[in-house]
Amino acid sequence: MKKSFLFFGLLSTAMLIGACKKNVEYYYYTQEEYDVISRSLNLPDESINYTPKLPDHLTRAGLTSPTVKAAEATLGRVLFYDKNLSSDKTISCASCHKQEIGFADDRRVSLGVESREGTRNSIALSSVANFAAYYGTDLNGSFGIPFFWDNRAATASEQNIASMLNPLEMNMKEHEIVDAVKNQDYYQPLFKKAFGSTEITSELVSRAISSFVNAMGSYQSRFDDAANTSNNGGWINYDANFTQFSAAENRGKALYINNCSSCHTSSFGRPSKFLSNNGLDESYSDKGVGAITGIGNEMGTFKVPTLRNIAITAPYMHDGRFATLSEVIDHYSTGIKNTPNLGFELRDTNGDVKKMNFTAQEKEDLIAFFNTLTDEKFRTDVRFSNPFK
Ligand code: HEC
Ligand code: HEC
Repeated sequence: MKKSFLFFGLLSTAMLIGACKKNVEYYYYTQEEYDVISRSLNLPDESINYTPKLPDHLTRAGLTSPTVKAAEATLGRVLFYDKNLSSDKTISCASCHKQEIGFADDRRVSLGVESREGTRNSIALSSVANFAAYYGTDLNGSFGIPFFWDNRAATASEQNIASMLNPLEMNMKEHEIVDAVKNQDYYQPLFKKAFGSTEITSELVSRAISSFVNAMGSYQSRFDDAANTSNNGGWINYDANFTQFSAAENRGKALYINNCSSCHTSSFGRPSKFLSNNGLDESYSDKGVGAITGIGNEMGTFKVPTLRNIAITAPYMHDGRFATLSEVIDHYSTGIKNTPNLGFELRDTNGDVKKMNFTAQEKEDLIAFFNTLTDEKFRTDVRFSNPFK
């Protein structure tokens, strides 16, 4: 037992040193490579640092910043924005995950190739503090938190391949993805930097996109700044009033902590629950997680999203049914439906459906608090922006 611990200790230290070294290494393209890249892309010659630096309050809550390989993430960024990766060359990942609105989509359901409508609302990629820290440092499901509204993908690679192959999204076949990448001259130098070879495979495409997604996340909101300084003898006290917050924001925070955080978390770090039902409907037209697992009490349950950037990622819920936060709050206030799989947090001690009956003032306060979760830095960070000219 001890021995293997020591071994893993040494191994991970060695890996850490290796990873850190790689991360600070600067690379430059040859003039020829840079000319090819610069015809299509706005990328700097030197490497971009993609390793996130999570705030203190989140590392104390158990989140670990991943080390992201710069060249892989840079390649992933180009792939993320490249419309050549769809069957009619009109759709990229960014079509449904738009940076200015927290990598969400402002449509109720997204449009894929040939304007095909999907059935679910796009998930805001900025809703979590950091993808890798949230889902597992290597994004291999090591914490068991899966992707999508119905938790059907275990890894980031599985997720992004699914998006590319989905007939309602990018509608590609695996070999078409490889061909589409091979056909663009800028990928040769990018692959060389990322993987040391110009060989292009769908696994490497997927891995690069995963690295980019790995680096994503929102951890520089006003909420984070305020939480960082709310240090109660080494313990972050999310319940206490934050000195940086207005009275309305603190009232909204208290309402949130009392009514919502049991499912959505108070740290906005890792999720307290992976799935639940929040009483949108009496019967389940979309069975969510249950449709994947076949488990009766998971019918009509969905991922419990972390609510970072919630003020800019409308519309809301798995089917985008609510256009505004005001409608969401009305739902929790008086509109929760009594349905067998309703999360127990939304029932009172008699087992009846909770009525939170928020006043107009309370509703305003909750919205004021939600506005503190917007991360303007991530939303405008050029490292995550469209690199195409
Ligand atoms: C046509 C629109 C569309 C395109 C294109 C698209 N997505 Fe999505 N994305 C969605 C929708 C809708 C969901 C939620 C689907 C669901 O849960 O069933 C989603 C979910 C996700 C998730 C899950 C997030 C989470 O927290 O569970 C990730 C990650 C993601 N997309 C990344 C990508 C990447 C990377 C690409 C490009 C390879 C991509 N998406 C392309 C619409 C799209
Ligand atoms: C029982 C657990 C639970 C509680 C308590 C809860 N929620 Fe939710 N919430 C969910 C689930 C599950 C979803 C996803 C539901 C779906 O789309 O089907 C959700 C979705 C949301 C969304 C939409 C997120 C998005 O990206 O579309 C918002 C906003 C939200 N909740 C706010 C609140 C607020 C405000 C409260 C407190 C007043 C609250 N929730 C209490 C479980 C809960």
